[in-house]
Amino acid sequence: MTSPVAIITGAGGGIGCAVALTLARQGWRLVLAEQTAAALEPCRRQCAALGAEVRTFGGDISSERDVAALAALAERHYGGCQGFVSSAGIAGVIREIDRYPGDVFRHVMEVNTYGTFFCLKHGLPLLRRRGGSFVAIASTSAIRGRAGMAGYVASKHAVLGLVKSSALECVGSNVRVNAVLPGPTQTAMIEAIDRMAAQQAPGGGINRPVAAPYGKPDDVANMVAFLLSPASGHINGASLVIDAGSTVA
Ligand SMILES: NC(=O)c1ccc[n+]([C@@H]2O[C@H](COP(=O)([O-])OP(=O)(O)OC[C@H]3O[C@@H](n4cnc5c(N)ncnc54)[C@H](O)[C@@H]3O)[C@@H](O)[C@H]2O)c1
Repeated sequence: MTSPVAIITGAGGGIGCAVALTLARQGWRLVLAEQTAAALEPCRRQCAALGAEVRTFGGDISSERDVAALAALAERHYGGCQGFVSSAGIAGVIREIDRYPGDVFRHVMEVNTYGTFFCLKHGLPLLRRRGGSFVAIASTSAIRGRAGMAGYVASKHAVLGLVKSSALECVGSNVRVNAVLPGPTQTAMIEAIDRMAAQQAPGGGINRPVAAPYGKPDDVANMVAFLLSPASGHINGASLVIDAGSTVA
């Protein structure tokens, strides 16, 4: 049996690369995407060292043309894919809404929401060829508010809308669509958010209800690997929270 193929966007980042490494260990072939192919080099090397066949793609996830080209690469080399993980994302700024710059809000929506939309639009046809699973990396910000982060929160709420609607379009087919919702996870993104929050007024504008430790990228990667596996075959349209209980506090 040939190894399954997964496309992973944002694979130069903390969570995306952890997903790539976890799948590499499980024998997947990988198509890694990032803003530039150079940004993928450390992850590509680590995956290759684990014996994985890896192709890389540099492009902007907020550009439909680039996402279509990414899908075309997987089509050309593998005739489709069995896994698609959209992990590329940005945080925007931390600013109350009356001071939140419109161009930043638009950019956050373009990368996080339009980026996921383009991945679903061009990824689902690839997954339908032989059956497969799409996983969107959303956030606990998809189901709760965060003072100072309206752009990010709105973009991630919208990601859940995309996941739920496309999951319903897949019912009865050989494809499933789910979202994982990490709480704060130790990557460059949370470090940047914490830096920005520290420069704000007391409380930093970020509300964290319990003092849960930050998660690790592998905590997310393990859930993604499960959602890509046949063991999760009855899970579709789900929003799976990974946050040590913070959201239910
Ligand atoms: N780290 C956290 O605390 C946390 C919590 C919840 C959700 N998330 C989500 O997890 C996902 C991965 O984030 P991370 O923590 O690994 O952060 P990260 O910054 O390490 O990785 C994100 C990657 O996305 C890439 N990217 C950004 N804009 C892009 C674009 N226009 N085109 C292509 N690639 C682009 C970046 O270059 C970066 O490598 C994001 O969607 C993020 O919103 C992160």
